[in-house]
Amino acid sequence: MNISVFSSNKEVSARAAELIAELLREKPDAVLGLATGDTPIGVYEALVERFKRGEVSFRQASAFNLDEYAGLPPEHEQSYAAYMAKHLLNEIDLPLDRAYIPNGLAADLEAESKAYDRLLEQAGQLDLQLLGIGHNGHIGFNEPGPHLHAGTHVVALTEETRDANSRYFDHLEDVPSQAVTMGVGWMMKAKHVVLIARGEGKAAVVKEALFGPITTSCPGSLLQLHPRLTVLLDEGAARDVQGLPGVRYL
Ligand code: F6R
Repeated sequence: MNISVFSSNKEVSARAAELIAELLREKPDAVLGLATGDTPIGVYEALVERFKRGEVSFRQASAFNLDEYAGLPPEHEQSYAAYMAKHLLNEIDLPLDRAYIPNGLAADLEAESKAYDRLLEQAGQLDLQLLGIGHNGHIGFNEPGPHLHAGTHVVALTEETRDANSRYFDHLEDVPSQAVTMGVGWMMKAKHVVLIARGEGKAAVVKEALFGPITTSCPGSLLQLHPRLTVLLDEGAARDVQGLPGVRYL
């Protein structure tokens, strides 16, 4: 595990974007695993800037998003499909038929999950999985609990997660109670996992996930077992890991 701490979130984003751009230069048909939420917005901004400067192309790449809310149409501004369109896909040259996001509107979400797994299997291994982490340790929408799933599945969102995400909706009741999420198996099989976190609000969970026991009560702790995990933190998110093994300040 390699943990780099940057003095600002802008630098975290720039470094994550650089890792993705480097991968695409080496392997133009790379398979990317992408995340949503607040944290990666700066990464996508940096990638769009690089694309506009002609430094990176996604033309031959494919991308799989981690998750989608159940019941939100892609046009709903809080759907992850809309988020990806706004922050990345409308701005770059990645062919939309290779930008996969689970369909939260599918009548049969179990069948949708299986179909997503088949697409992931066909694509082979994810070359790089970008991840954020929830305050409760979730990765994707793999919530803390007695067990975790390897494959894509339907998940009931915890009240904590619904509460955290209610900032984007008018009312807490509007936050969907279910989602479809890639399972932890796909993340663990990715060739490279890049975990990003920012702000003091994430400091405790960052320490717990990276230095605490490996437990399904903190799904992010599984990442300690990943053979190639790069963690990029700003100073706030790194507050509780200062001086711990593998943590370097850039
Ligand atoms: C997003 C996702 C979530 C977020 C996590 C952190 O696709 O799967 O695991 O990464 O909830 O969200 P932010 O970045 O908003 O703090």
